[in-house]
Amino acid sequence: MNDGSFSLSHRRLLLIISGGIAAYKSLDLIRRLRERGAQVRCVLTSGGAQFITPLSVAALSGEPPLTQLFSAENEQQFGHIRLSREADLIVVAPASANMIAKMAHGLADNLASAVLLAATDKPVMIAPAMNGRMWEHPATQANMATLASRGIMKIGPARGALACGEEGAGRMSEVDAILSAIESFFAQNAPLQGHRALVTSGPTFEPMDPVRFIGNRSSGKQGHAIAAALAAAGADVTLVTGPTALPEPLGVRVIPIETAKEMLAACKSALPCDIVVCAAAVADWRPKTQSTFKIKKNGGHAAPPLTMTENPDILATLSQKGKSRPKLVIGFAAETDAVIDNAKAKFARKGCDWILANQVGGGKGFGAEENSVTLLRREAKGTISAQAWPTLSKTAIAQKLVEEIVKKKG
Ligand code: CTP
Repeated sequence: MNDGSFSLSHRRLLLIISGGIAAYKSLDLIRRLRERGAQVRCVLTSGGAQFITPLSVAALSGEPPLTQLFSAENEQQFGHIRLSREADLIVVAPASANMIAKMAHGLADNLASAVLLAATDKPVMIAPAMNGRMWEHPATQANMATLASRGIMKIGPARGALACGEEGAGRMSEVDAILSAIESFFAQNAPLQGHRALVTSGPTFEPMDPVRFIGNRSSGKQGHAIAAALAAAGADVTLVTGPTALPEPLGVRVIPIETAKEMLAACKSALPCDIVVCAAAVADWRPKTQSTFKIKKNGGHAAPPLTMTENPDILATLSQKGKSRPKLVIGFAAETDAVIDNAKAKFARKGCDWILANQVGGGKGFGAEENSVTLLRREAKGTISAQAWPTLSKTAIAQKLVEEIVKKKG
């Protein structure tokens, strides 16, 4: 949509709908969020389900709301930890007095409260909705003070006619107000808004004949995580990726390729851009010729000779000096030994600005969930600085890299 509103196209929202007549407004909130491109996953409490049906939530959000804490299906698909981990922002609307009390006291007796208790590192926004006396009660006010001290953001409540027939504070804020609070939260948390980024990921497959290829073990996990983290920071991201088993990161333009030559062509088509991260494990060589038919065993004769030729170096090509060179070009150095020395040597060959050096082999790097990297940076006057990071999940490494990119941008 293009009505001048802030795009939420790569944002993942978890909307928790607790009990209250205002739950009907949450249906409109879901619709408006999705119009702005957000992915909205919903948790409907049993109180919420007294006011709106799971079917109407499913129809508007595009997937059935989650309702049960202990459910074999949920546990497999979206355990409560995963639900909070996969959200960029959690919004509780309406937030009943009961839900607010549970949050303040750390209860985890239903799916909604368990998700919120697990959301220790996630931003949470609540839109309280209740009777005015309940809102003004010292217990609710003390609970709200506790939540504020933990950084929970609050929208409303508004004053006006309440469902119970009384007047006062306690009405859930209107959908417009909630939407603009969500938009301004993301606007403030989008430090790379307006920046174009290009990420390469996964292996390349270099064909010998129509059925065989030379490839490698890259899972694409690190490159995909970097693309997702850049998009979450507001960048406009193109991900050029070899074959992987991973889902496409949300809000990222994905160009699937197979060979190194295709990867280079796709990268060039994504220029100009400001930031490049080459995380792909590009095959250094490809078979010099590609048979148009399946190479046969040929009745016990010698194996066919395999002559290889060098592939283009994508990182080195994108690092070449010139007017359209991206401001920041980052590569990886996957090494089995002498990690730092080999990585330093790569600066000269590749011409990039930063290198993330990591150890591969022996269960590390390829396919693993975690990575141990050292960030090497080419500083002014040609010196190279090295910053060793602790062993972290690939998602955490992606996040940390994006933080460094944001710091450099200043
Ligand atoms: N890379 C690339 N194109 C290639 C080879 C590598 O873009 N043809 C990039 C990788 O994405 C990575 C960096 O270059 O960011 C280093 O890759 P690596 O495999 O560690 O190094 P190589 O260039 O293959 O050098 P060597 O084989 O000597 O280790």
